[in-house]
Amino acid sequence: MNKLKNDLFLRACKKEKTERTPIWVMRQAGRYLPEYRAVRKKADFLTMCKTPELAAEVTLQPIDLIGVDAAIIFSDILVIPEAMGMHLEMHEGRGPVFPYPIRTQSDFNALKEIDPTTDLKYVLEAVSLTKTELNGRVPLIGFSGSPWTLLTYMVEGGGSKNFSNVKKMIYNNPELAHNILEKLSSAISNYLSAKIEAGANAIQIFDTWGGILTQDDFQEFSLQYVQKIISNIKRENEPVIFFPKGVHSNLEKVANCGADVLGLDWTMDLGEVRKLVGDKVALQGNLDPTTLYGSEDVIKERALKTMQSYGNGSGHIFNLGHGILPDVEPEKLKTLVNFVKENSSQFHS
Ligand code: CP3
Repeated sequence: MNKLKNDLFLRACKKEKTERTPIWVMRQAGRYLPEYRAVRKKADFLTMCKTPELAAEVTLQPIDLIGVDAAIIFSDILVIPEAMGMHLEMHEGRGPVFPYPIRTQSDFNALKEIDPTTDLKYVLEAVSLTKTELNGRVPLIGFSGSPWTLLTYMVEGGGSKNFSNVKKMIYNNPELAHNILEKLSSAISNYLSAKIEAGANAIQIFDTWGGILTQDDFQEFSLQYVQKIISNIKRENEPVIFFPKGVHSNLEKVANCGADVLGLDWTMDLGEVRKLVGDKVALQGNLDPTTLYGSEDVIKERALKTMQSYGNGSGHIFNLGHGILPDVEPEKLKTLVNFVKENSSQFHS
């Protein structure tokens, strides 16, 4: 295995001492980069995901061009339902669409049991190839959606405003919802273990839609499955980050799910959350992604505030509170990354 030249991110995940605060950003390989759009011109999104050379190429772009402290493998959370047999379309401007969503027991019965080492082999090949090309420069993050967040896309058939279909399912047929969540959890556990085996140094679980649930429903339909997955992942020293977007309550419970790091969206106060659960987990986040529409001065001022909010000591991984938006100028992200690199050592004396 390659020895890492920059392991700040991994040390911060374990709350070990670092010389400065590491930074990476969600969706860092994406459309805001002209270099990404150039590759995307030649291939559609799913072809990019399924071609390890292209996935590796765009994974490396933000490392080379922006200088972030971790890489995240280029892929999508929806490759799991796709591998289970759901036809997936990516529509420009509208996002992902499953034209044949899962609404009934017989829809569910048609879903294939997957073996990630064969059915998602292309992701694992992308991970190994990216590791080779990274040559130890920075750690590589593997990821998956949470079972709940995958369920919302599978049942709604795409993005949604009120999540009516998936809510109908949990209130009218909770057993079916649990059956699907159970099947997803097992696939995700195997998939994340395989990603680590292929070379991922850390794992992030995205629960983008955890925040649409009541507190009790979040526990029942999301958190218990995430907890199960984390305890099932075969890992040695690889940290797990859990990002439950929009979840503001029961943070002690959330911090006890087995994750090493809790990812926060921009509506949370880093310092307050640290007081509550900072002895259990490291924290990742949480600059408002739209701050990058601001001037350089605004970006720097808000980045400093974010670091001050966390305060002194290890255990903070700087990130946006959600993915970078496609119309952000790459120079603005560079400003943010350089500012954090140059001004965070004062929090680590
Ligand atoms: O972070 C990274 O750079 C790694 C790549 C990554 C993508 N999707 C690439 C992508 C990651 C980690 C994801 C996760 C993902 N995908 C999530 C969870 C994170 C989040 O943002 O909440 C979700 C909900 C999805 C599902 C998904 N895929 C949506 C909603 C969309 C449309 C987004 C949009 O802005 O149009 C996608 C497509 C997608 N996934 C793109 C990229 C770069 C854009 C596709 C394109 O190039 O046309």
